[in-house]
Amino acid sequence: MYDLVIRGGQVMLPAGLLPCDIGVRSGKIAKLGPIPAGQGATELDATGLTILPGMIDTQVHFREPGGEHKEDLATGSKAAVLGGITGVFEMPNTNPSTSTPEALKDKLDRAKGRMWCEHAFYVGATPDNITALPSLERLPGACGVKLFMGSSTGSLLVEEPGAIAGVLRNGHRRVAVHAEDEARLRERNPIAQSAGHPRAHPDWRDPTTALNATRQIVELARKSGRRIHVLHISTGDEMDYLVDHKDIATVEVTPNHLTLTAPDCYDRLGTNAQMNPPVRDATHQARIWQAVADGTVDILGSDHAPHTAEEKAKAYPGSPSGMPGVQTTLPLMLTHVAEGRLTLQRLVDLMAHGPNRVFGIANKGRIAIGYDADFTVVDLMAERVIEQDWLASRAGWSPYTGHKCKGWPVGTIIRGHHVMRDGEVLGTAIGEPMRFHDTLERTTD
Ligand code: DOR
Repeated sequence: MYDLVIRGGQVMLPAGLLPCDIGVRSGKIAKLGPIPAGQGATELDATGLTILPGMIDTQVHFREPGGEHKEDLATGSKAAVLGGITGVFEMPNTNPSTSTPEALKDKLDRAKGRMWCEHAFYVGATPDNITALPSLERLPGACGVKLFMGSSTGSLLVEEPGAIAGVLRNGHRRVAVHAEDEARLRERNPIAQSAGHPRAHPDWRDPTTALNATRQIVELARKSGRRIHVLHISTGDEMDYLVDHKDIATVEVTPNHLTLTAPDCYDRLGTNAQMNPPVRDATHQARIWQAVADGTVDILGSDHAPHTAEEKAKAYPGSPSGMPGVQTTLPLMLTHVAEGRLTLQRLVDLMAHGPNRVFGIANKGRIAIGYDADFTVVDLMAERVIEQDWLASRAGWSPYTGHKCKGWPVGTIIRGHHVMRDGEVLGTAIGEPMRFHDTLERTTD
């Protein structure tokens, strides 16, 4: 007997997309192949549907601890499961930042019974916690260290090259990096101030700002032999550079840089299209798509940044950078699949196999025997428009409302539990911290 049997679906197995039944026992995948009738305590008829490994979003900002009526772990993770996401890595630029053992423990405590999906938290590097990083990055619930080389939302910043090298020398796990050249940002800030319109955003934070920092972090990573993960790559120049450093650097792109285009997005959406690093023109976007096609890109992360409409209404450049996206990423990307820009297999590589491979997530990211029974069930034929009343984020807006999608998440299953079905969140918030190959717990002393 199985706790759950999923029948009749097309399943994205390591071997490819194949018709297959799935048997789940004690939260794990126990059988892949024909399963006789009556063997499941619960049965799900997935005829006409496609079962993907649970989609993992390795870059979200849920802002806990945050303010009242703002996004938090509960609302952000509800948005995640509604969007077919089974696991998230949450960023440390909160207030206070997740840069101490106490702050990490506080986040894990807050997550208990409130997170709808599996989760892990980045530890924020600061000039003051460098020597503590080797132990911080090993704490349960940590997915690794995040380094801001350029300032964005919040106060986390490690700018000085000696300090950046210190971060890289202290620890072993892959370091996730926001690569923008802080000195150049300061120098060029008058561009943003005098323009007073977000159209100037990709000029203030120009391609050289991104490339300088990406080069610097790769050079420093090579000196210390440390693996890095360069987040939200926004320029073709960085892609041209990174292809020669794939031994040491993995690469993330966001759906925003793949979907929105400057200058149109700034004319249409104003400050709502403002994020760091900026959305750029069609030439950069085409090169990023090429990097998706040729394998340079390892991971797609939403960079969900739930600034409220009121905050975003401030005049540029006083307006905060970032846009919500954890719930819209999968429908947007399935639409790119339907329109032929990438294959479904490549999307699964970017959002499930990629996170598993890059971060060494234990038991997640593949549909294989012994792995956790985390599934994202999608209807590839569904045509739907992204409407505000579908969105759960407390941000209360999306740059993609009105966007026509083909392909939609209709089920989110975590360790065999249905947490979202046909747009309804089910049961209670059962999300648990993820475990990692680098830091598996010991069973004996
Ligand atoms: O636009 C952004 N917003 N980029 C980041 O790197 C941070 C994020 C935020 O935290 O709001």
